[in-house]
Amino acid sequence: MRGVLELRAGTTDDVEEVVAVWRAAQGARGQRPAASRIARVVDKLTAPDALLVVGELEDDDGATQVAGFALGEPGRADDGTGDVEAELLHVTMLSVAPGAQRQGLGSALVEALADAAWPLGYRRLHVWTRTDNTPAHGLYEACGLELSGREQDLAGPVVQYVAELEPPVRDVVVTGQGLRLGQLLKLAGLVDTGAQAKELLAASGVQVDGEVELRRGRQLVDDEVVTARDQSVRLIVDAPPPT
Ligand SMILES: CC(C)(COP(=O)(O)OP(=O)(O)OC[C@H]1O[C@@H](n2cnc3c(N)ncnc32)[C@H](O)[C@@H]1OP(=O)(O)O)[C@@H](O)C(=O)NCCC(=O)NCCS
Repeated sequence: MRGVLELRAGTTDDVEEVVAVWRAAQGARGQRPAASRIARVVDKLTAPDALLVVGELEDDDGATQVAGFALGEPGRADDGTGDVEAELLHVTMLSVAPGAQRQGLGSALVEALADAAWPLGYRRLHVWTRTDNTPAHGLYEACGLELSGREQDLAGPVVQYVAELEPPVRDVVVTGQGLRLGQLLKLAGLVDTGAQAKELLAASGVQVDGEVELRRGRQLVDDEVVTARDQSVRLIVDAPPPT
């Protein structure tokens, strides 16, 4: 399999392919899930509050198929037995088909899940993984998750990774020289008027690459990320062709 073609929200139509990916990934780790476990996975995938993202890859014949998925659900207190904890996404499953691993799909799925979670009000995520699951540890660390220090025994020792979520970054493309911060705020729809921009900046409500910026006239350059009102936009400066 080659080339990530699409990351998208999963639907109940994807369940069969998703289960096949999960079983293949489990099989590669020497695990053969029992029918009862498979049925529980289908229940999770079809739960009304399930948050599923799938990654499709193109195979050598040009056909596309689901090659990986990530599944989140509302996090609960007391290690999953208590009430739903506001703003916490529990990442309950993540699998990439054995033939599609080590191509960046797992990390892309974690990022896509985090982006899909933000507009639903999730602000933190956590995931438990086996202490000896080296690929998963590498993946979560590569995605910026951190060990919380919590451990438990779930048919074997597991550790917890956690992360604060950030607003998804949207690209805004301009041709030429870049533009000023006040202009970008309007162009990206983060404010409607110059007066609103001034007010927002004065209230320290705008960040450029994570630092509060007060100047409306700050010249922005390619790849800078502006965050305001719970949204982030990345400026892409598309230089005009030479004349
Ligand atoms: C864990 C899993 C989802 C990773 O998927 P993936 O698509 O291979 O991950 P990526 O290609 O995005 O890898 C991202 C980073 O994770 C780390 N990583 C991934 N696989 C690794 C491995 N086998 N050994 C060491 N590090 C690994 C690396 O740092 C990698 O970056 P690099 O390729 O630039 O070195 C996949 O191995 C899998 O499906 N495993 C079985 C199911 C599972 O264990 N899921 C996690 C449950 S908590």
